[in-house]
Amino acid sequence: KKLLLLNGPNLNLLGTREPAVYGAETLADVELAATAQAAAAGATLACFQSNHEGALIDRIHAAKAEGVDAIVINPAALTHTSVGLRDAFSAVEIPFVEVHISNIFKREEFRHHSYLSAIAIGTICGLGTDGYRFAIDFALKKR
Ligand code: DQA
Repeated sequence: KKLLLLNGPNLNLLGTREPAVYGAETLADVELAATAQAAAAGATLACFQSNHEGALIDRIHAAKAEGVDAIVINPAALTHTSVGLRDAFSAVEIPFVEVHISNIFKREEFRHHSYLSAIAIGTICGLGTDGYRFAIDFALKKR
């Protein structure tokens, strides 16, 4: 099984960025744990973070060519703005789980809508960085 973990804009700053909202774990911590989690299940996991919408879209297209089975993505701010990211998922038809570290529904109104949720397998939000672990566990189990 081949998984891909994607993180969107500003998540490279995880650990120092608004720690009261996003916690103290860094993106490197999250990616290391996710890689070990996949390996323990006999799967491979690639990680990619970008602050650029087009780079994420290109990575999703490449995932199709690589035969990626499932994607776990925290689209970050692009969640609330990007029809392009949604269309990329519709185009490649790779199943994905949407993760948000914070509970977006407790926050500003503009964070309440996601362009991705309607086409995701499911969404995890508000469970901190543990959400990545739960999403990867699900993606590993899903056939
Ligand atoms: C986020 C929530 C988004 O609203 C925000 O723009 C982010 C992170 C989260 O993980 O809680 O960058 O996706």
